[in-house]
Amino acid sequence: MHRFACVRDYEEAARGRLRPDVWDFMAGGAGEEITLRDNTAAFGRVRVWPRVLTGVGHVDTTVELLGQVWSAPIGIAPMALHEMCHSDAEIATVRAATAVGLPTVLSAFSSVAVEDVTAASPHANVWQQVYIFKDRQVTASMAERAVVSGVRALVVTVDSPWMGRRHRDIRDGFRFPDGLRSANLSASLSQWADISDPVLHSRSAMDPSLTWTDVEWLAGLTGLPLVVKGILAPDDAERALEAGADAIIVSNHGARQLDRTTAALDALPDVAAVARAGGVPVLLDGGVRSGTDVLIAMALGAAAVLVGRPVLYGLAVAGEAGVHGVLTLLVDELRDAMGLTGCSVTPQVGPELIAPAGLFH
Ligand code: FNR
Repeated sequence: MHRFACVRDYEEAARGRLRPDVWDFMAGGAGEEITLRDNTAAFGRVRVWPRVLTGVGHVDTTVELLGQVWSAPIGIAPMALHEMCHSDAEIATVRAATAVGLPTVLSAFSSVAVEDVTAASPHANVWQQVYIFKDRQVTASMAERAVVSGVRALVVTVDSPWMGRRHRDIRDGFRFPDGLRSANLSASLSQWADISDPVLHSRSAMDPSLTWTDVEWLAGLTGLPLVVKGILAPDDAERALEAGADAIIVSNHGARQLDRTTAALDALPDVAAVARAGGVPVLLDGGVRSGTDVLIAMALGAAAVLVGRPVLYGLAVAGEAGVHGVLTLLVDELRDAMGLTGCSVTPQVGPELIAPAGLFH
């Protein structure tokens, strides 16, 4: 049997299983993909200083976030249309995450409706990602359905007035495969049911005139915690807190929006300082490919990370079992990284683990 030693192995296996243009859509980024490479390279530039003889006979990776316990500080980032990778789609993803004790952020453009996802995994920790669409009623109804379905937090993505310019998709003339539907959306807005052209679809749905006032509106809409996703600059983190954010996700959308934005990890420390002063947790996504990456993000101020593409790689390779494989791998790697740096519980992962900048490059 083929063994998967790391996320890279899942990536290679997934590439061989997907249509080349679907692979490009999933794995690719905006422009020349400088930021896409930077998101992972930023982790590769950091070096850690382990501490020894601290007694790591038992390593506990659990964290508590927004009043919820996660088995490890790793969640699944919202990604559209998991059906592109496997017919079991988000049902498989959420089942795997639940089995490992981790949360899933369901995309506004998921291929399975939130009601069906939570019904298939009754104990799941599901967060619902939304956009504030041109038609606010669509967003409001998605938020209400999330509450009724037992979703535990709302995530609003704020970095997408429209879709980024992705060279691979332009060259491929990318269209979503026939028959794919954004089921979470089409129930509430039938004219968006045709999602075959992602660029046109996003232009018709997204509202480029959004401001922080719209986030304030969303913060007051449900009793759910509101998490603001897509922050890179510390002054935007302050604005998010003023608008009512209960947590912030440092993210450049997996480098899919504007090429040459800062790597997510490089933006983390300054945003984390603002969030800490405001008393809210900060999460990070973009480029997390190993448990050591998770440790580094935590040491630089993240309460947890979200993982994007690696989950789709696992899904493409073996459905629920593949996602389970990727997630357990990341948790095992984190346990290794914690133990081998002398940390037996997550609060011990702090900035003193990071070797001073300049020593190694
Ligand atoms: C995304 N992402 C995304 N984000 C979001 O807020 N709503 C969405 O619907 C999507 N859809 C989506 C589809 C695909 C195929 C990808 C790869 C990504 C961005 C995602 O939430 C996250 O920010 C990045 O994927 C994190 O980077 P890594 O882990 O993929 O490097």
